[in-house]
Amino acid sequence: SYISGTFVDTPALGELNFYQDCLLVVDEAGNIAHFEPSSSPASVAQIALASQTGDPVSQIPEGSFLLPTFCDLHLHAPQFLYQGNGLDLPLLEWLDKYTYKAEERLDSDPVLAKRVYDRLARRLLENGTGAVSFFGTIKAQTNEILARSMLDAGIRARVGKLSMDISSRPTYVEASAEASLEAARGFALDSCALLAQQTGKSLIEPVLTPRFVPTCSDELLSGLADMSSKHSLHVQSHLAEAYDQVKWVEDTRGKDDIDVFDQARLLNPRTVQAHCTYLTPPDLQRIVDSGTSIAHCPLSNIYFSSEPFPLREALKMGVKIGLGTDVAGGYSLDMMNAMRNAVTVSRMRENRRLTEVRASSSSSTNEVVDEQASLAITWTDSLYLATRGGGIALGGSWKDLGHFKVGAPFDAQQIKLVGEDREGVGALDFFDLASDISPAGLSLEMVEKWWCIGDNRNRMRVWIQGVQCFGV
Ligand code: GUN
Ligand code: FE
Repeated sequence: SYISGTFVDTPALGELNFYQDCLLVVDEAGNIAHFEPSSSPASVAQIALASQTGDPVSQIPEGSFLLPTFCDLHLHAPQFLYQGNGLDLPLLEWLDKYTYKAEERLDSDPVLAKRVYDRLARRLLENGTGAVSFFGTIKAQTNEILARSMLDAGIRARVGKLSMDISSRPTYVEASAEASLEAARGFALDSCALLAQQTGKSLIEPVLTPRFVPTCSDELLSGLADMSSKHSLHVQSHLAEAYDQVKWVEDTRGKDDIDVFDQARLLNPRTVQAHCTYLTPPDLQRIVDSGTSIAHCPLSNIYFSSEPFPLREALKMGVKIGLGTDVAGGYSLDMMNAMRNAVTVSRMRENRRLTEVRASSSSSTNEVVDEQASLAITWTDSLYLATRGGGIALGGSWKDLGHFKVGAPFDAQQIKLVGEDREGVGALDFFDLASDISPAGLSLEMVEKWWCIGDNRNRMRVWIQGVQCFGV
């Protein structure tokens, strides 16, 4: 199909493209086959070809633009059930009081699981999320329901059957490391392969998911690492998240999370570790050197971690980072909120740094503010993390997600800034008073404003792998 109009993407940190009047062509497989200004000779040839074959060129209306869909690197699908509850508790108490019970409930009620997962899929599309790495539950069948819901909705999903063999509720734990490994292998290699075979679609992938160090024996962790390297399977977990969790691991294992994972060979380019808030600079260097990615989950960190993640430092060191909503440790599945929270937290860190710099410079000379030392990230940095950064961090067959580039999958959302909202019941508040408004009725300032105040009313359509799966 052929689409022309305005496109926005962030192909690298600190880089934002505002492409006006471009033509994008999607091939049969749903990948981008052509992307150039509409006036280029190649685009003119493409348009001529389209008219010959009778293919319509879909024109993105004035006042609207296309953006890559968001990549959510970390979401607990079953926790959508109790999203927003109990967040005043410390992490380990919250897990005991709410999480394990809710997950167990879905494992024992497939009808409820189907309802929760279908609703989750709809909400993700409404919110512009096109690719997600899910933590599921222990039971394989419940994860098959999750995979099926995402497949039916057309969402790109990594589905993680949880592995946990120690220290959970007596009724919500696997019997042994061997039993856990056997179940993980069955889900990742058989169930997911069967699903792909039956449907002929490849948007669903398995991901090995040892929950976190406290609930996984060393035997389980190294068994999963073997499985991952033998079958090229992705892995995800939680690393150095919360004070009570870090302390627990120290007391029971006599070492840090990162050492446990490292010794199990679970720091590698196939692994995405969430949070990493308690890592020191040398620890972060180990993350870089091992090629491990980080899912930065700013909202849940605000609740469960007493330390903010050193985002700017990690980016400077070259860690592959994307954003996660961490539902329900984070109460919002909207990646717009994840972006805003990432910026907010980084600005608080930077403001504190400046205060410390001022307090320590005894002389009254107003020292020049060193831009290079800033710990803050900008809205465009956060947009990169939510799209392209996420694609790079997720890697594997998803490594090309998050930008408009020939050869990359066409995963996009259409955002409308002018006129009536999606439902046609209200007005969008994007007056543009800037002088540089383009013929397409847009300016970069309007996009910036959308980042601050936009919501689902602005989202008109979503495509994943070239297939429109949301909007009319
Ligand atoms: N650590 C282990 N399990 C969980 C979970 O479900 N949510 C969060 N935020 N952290 C965890
Ligand atoms: Fe989590």
